[in-house]
Amino acid sequence: MSQPPEVHSAWLPPSAFRALGSRRIRIEGRGLLVDTVRSEVAQACASFGGRICEPGEPADLVLDASVTSSEGFRIGRLGESTVVAADGPAGLLHGLFEVVRRGEAAFDPALAEERHEPALPLRVLDHWDNVDVHPVMGQVERGYSGGSIFWRNGRLREDLTRVRGYARLLAATGINAVTVNNVNVHTTETHLLTDGLGQVATLAGIFRAYGIRVHLSVNFAAPVILGDLDTADPLDDAVRQWWKRTTERVFEAIPDFGGYLVKADSEGQPGPFTYGRDHADGANMLAAALAPYDAVVRWRAFVYNHRQDWRDRTTDRARAAFDHFAPLDGRFDDNVIVQVKHGPMDFQTREPVSPVLFAMPYTRLAVELQVTQEYTGQQKHVCYLPPMWSSLPLRSAAGLTAVSSVGDDPFWTGHPLAQANLYAVGRLGWNPGLDPLAVLDEWISLTFPGLREVLHDLMDDSWQTYEQYTAPLGVGFMVRPGHHYGPDVDGYEYTPWGTYHFADRDGVGVDRTVATGTGFAGLYPKPFSQLYESRATCPDELLLFFHHVPYDHVLQSGTTVIQHIYDTHFAGAERVAGMRERWLSAAGPVDPAVHARVAERLDEQLRSAEEWRDQINTYFYRKSGIPDAKGRTIH
Ligand code: GCU
Repeated sequence: MSQPPEVHSAWLPPSAFRALGSRRIRIEGRGLLVDTVRSEVAQACASFGGRICEPGEPADLVLDASVTSSEGFRIGRLGESTVVAADGPAGLLHGLFEVVRRGEAAFDPALAEERHEPALPLRVLDHWDNVDVHPVMGQVERGYSGGSIFWRNGRLREDLTRVRGYARLLAATGINAVTVNNVNVHTTETHLLTDGLGQVATLAGIFRAYGIRVHLSVNFAAPVILGDLDTADPLDDAVRQWWKRTTERVFEAIPDFGGYLVKADSEGQPGPFTYGRDHADGANMLAAALAPYDAVVRWRAFVYNHRQDWRDRTTDRARAAFDHFAPLDGRFDDNVIVQVKHGPMDFQTREPVSPVLFAMPYTRLAVELQVTQEYTGQQKHVCYLPPMWSSLPLRSAAGLTAVSSVGDDPFWTGHPLAQANLYAVGRLGWNPGLDPLAVLDEWISLTFPGLREVLHDLMDDSWQTYEQYTAPLGVGFMVRPGHHYGPDVDGYEYTPWGTYHFADRDGVGVDRTVATGTGFAGLYPKPFSQLYESRATCPDELLLFFHHVPYDHVLQSGTTVIQHIYDTHFAGAERVAGMRERWLSAAGPVDPAVHARVAERLDEQLRSAEEWRDQINTYFYRKSGIPDAKGRTIH
């Protein structure tokens, strides 16, 4: 079998710079990011025969940066030249990559003038990277692409070449911030804030050259853990002073530091509840320490009781973020962003949009996505996620944040095709209005230009395919506890995690109605609350999220629930078999290393999809006793 390349060039192969690199280019402006643009252009010219012109010389491309910190730019034609007129150096870098994306088309004399600027000011990838290898979660929590590109053996890696390459890839998508450690902040990582800060500063130096600011996940109990105080009470003066002093030192080391990310009072992490305080008290304490600087506290809304009694039908995990946070609306300081997972449960394949996103008009909110495919096939399955993300109310948010999928794997993301999710999250943060399939097309054209047809065939509806063979109709979970890969229908049913489907001999689903259930449906504004409350109007794909229904309940599609389960599971697995065949027959034009890696992953996807199909179908057949109307094999 052929060896994978040392490091895959992802969406910035040298060939992507051909149109640019074969021309005369004039660059005007100054500063670190303008220097970055200059070196990108010089490298492209060295490969393709173009050159950087002197001031005043005629050029095919003029890259001109003004001096503001705005990231916007205009692109258009002036006489014989294509001109990128940027608001500032950051805009120039984004403008450069716009030219790269367009290729030859950027030099079309008929190019229409356009203005580009990011819809969301903060576009960040959160790394769940541990500095030490954690005994249970490994080096990258929920990481499916090898070790961390930042950390190794308890400290910063010596060779940071990959970090530079990563910064460059991210900048090309529009990402402007990165969090360098896991939201679960263990002891070693707590020290990054103080004695480990030099390592963070080194990373910040690398990212800075690509317009990306570094953030740090901090431990709410840091004043205690680092041995300085015996309390972390957010209203205690000594604690507030500690955070203020500590934050001052952070900015001495990293003047453009981006801010803190906090997971508090969640899944065992410390938080303000210990001191009888609430999340606004906790977040505002950090906000006060950060107030003198241009930086933010991102405070996660992922707070719920993970030690629930499964017998207790009154507790509903889906309600938790709303119940904790909606009452605090208006109490958060201006430099606090409450970071909300896109769905009310936990990054499932299909969830309704979190109602928190509609419930806090006086709070800055960021949406959190999971690019790492914890519940969507762990980068063994092809699953292009942007069709799911594009249904979210992103435009009105203060930020788009996403859990990174990257590791030290040669392809960056384990599955080479999983790179597309990483590419797309940056593009959608810049412009949430982009069509997800157009973004996919962009990624393919840059990364695998010869494979347009086959990759669209494999990827366009891959999220829907994954949904077909996994947990049905929005009910979620049904995964193997702990690692969350592969089917286990009752794996979470009698656990403390609050993730149940309540299947019995008569029916399945969670009653979250106001009339007879947990009331969750009523947390939405109208008309969504009414839409979800009624079985008749609840969208099929979310029916079991909101309702417990009999197996012979007829969906809006006209099929019964049980027959839908059988049909989708057979169809999903069959579709994966077709994807695999399609890929195998495309061997010719594909780099053998890429072909081999994708083929190996498709083998596993097919095995897993068949396992899902058989377990889910058999489970529901045994529960319901209702046979498949089409008489297919159920075990
Ligand atoms: C999920 C995931 C955890 C993670 C948590 C979070 O529950 O399984 O590994 O820590 O989300 O988002 O904080």
